[in-house]
Amino acid sequence: DWQMGSYIDEAVARIREQVGDEEVILGLSGGVDSSVAAALIHRAIGDQLTCVFVDHGLLRLNEGRMVMEMFAGRLHAKVVHVDASEQFLGKLAGVTDPERKRKIIGAEFVEVFQAEARKLTNAKWLAQGTIYPDVVESGGTKTKKATTIKSHHNVGGLPETLGLKLLEPLRELFKDEVRALGVALGLPPDMVYRHPFPGPGLGVRILGEIRKDFADLLRRADAIFIEELRNTIDPGTGKSWYALTSQAFAVFLPVKSVGVMGDGRTYDYVVALRAVQTSDFMTADWAELPYSLLKKTSGRIINEVRGINRVTYDVSSKPPATIEWE
Ligand code: XMP
Repeated sequence: DWQMGSYIDEAVARIREQVGDEEVILGLSGGVDSSVAAALIHRAIGDQLTCVFVDHGLLRLNEGRMVMEMFAGRLHAKVVHVDASEQFLGKLAGVTDPERKRKIIGAEFVEVFQAEARKLTNAKWLAQGTIYPDVVESGGTKTKKATTIKSHHNVGGLPETLGLKLLEPLRELFKDEVRALGVALGLPPDMVYRHPFPGPGLGVRILGEIRKDFADLLRRADAIFIEELRNTIDPGTGKSWYALTSQAFAVFLPVKSVGVMGDGRTYDYVVALRAVQTSDFMTADWAELPYSLLKKTSGRIINEVRGINRVTYDVSSKPPATIEWE
């Protein structure tokens, strides 16, 4: 609308004035904040922006392809796609403790990002999708909140290490304003209204040791669940169950159980489905999804994902359970 249009004009003018003819790097995660920041900065300075997208091998199905299609394909932004999955999975081999997994993923992410940033020798700025609630939580300081919650994407300290100035064009915006800005900048509503996805990604949704074959199974099961949530409309509200939930995903349980398929016996892994409703993610209720949706999802997962023969639905609220299983 008109108001958002003039907001974009002002924001673009401010970025141009700040940056001049210097070059900017931005870490693109596929999440809402970094995507909107990238689209806005690209609108302002075009090819002076280089986005770095690190694939740690723990992303959802087709995530890397979607990010590249959107930013490199449709927006014609410069995007460096770093496939670091082997490096990450190598470092994670044999590690089962959730917090150690998080630390390894976080540290590796910083390392890979820094190495890419150093290659872009002309860059003078590091852009981040910090939004107003991040600023408030960190007591008005310049870096994002340094807690486990966003440890992975918290690149606080990075600008100094890299000798870069910090560009944070979303610092004054609330989440709903960031989303409206994203839509006004032409990002697809499906991308702008996505559920949050944790920095360590599937790393905290594969219980215990992370293995590539587990990640591959989980990605496929998770994609089926999300597709069914998006396609099932609640007649009362006219909204999809994806829109009616705050976060939903599949979790891989490295446990085998017996099943039967045709004339044979199977002995395969289990997937748990998790869907919650919450306003602040501090407390959350498990979502009362329609049985028909659960039935279709479990049927599809078991039929389409060979290696999974059992699906369960998590009926635990937070507290005492957490939203993620690790
Ligand atoms: P829990 O599991 O603590 O999750 O109830 C609350 C919210 O935080 C997200 N979460 C994370 N996000 N890095 C992130 O960026 C993490 O290590 C992490 N752990 C949990 C979780 O997805 C939920 O939205």
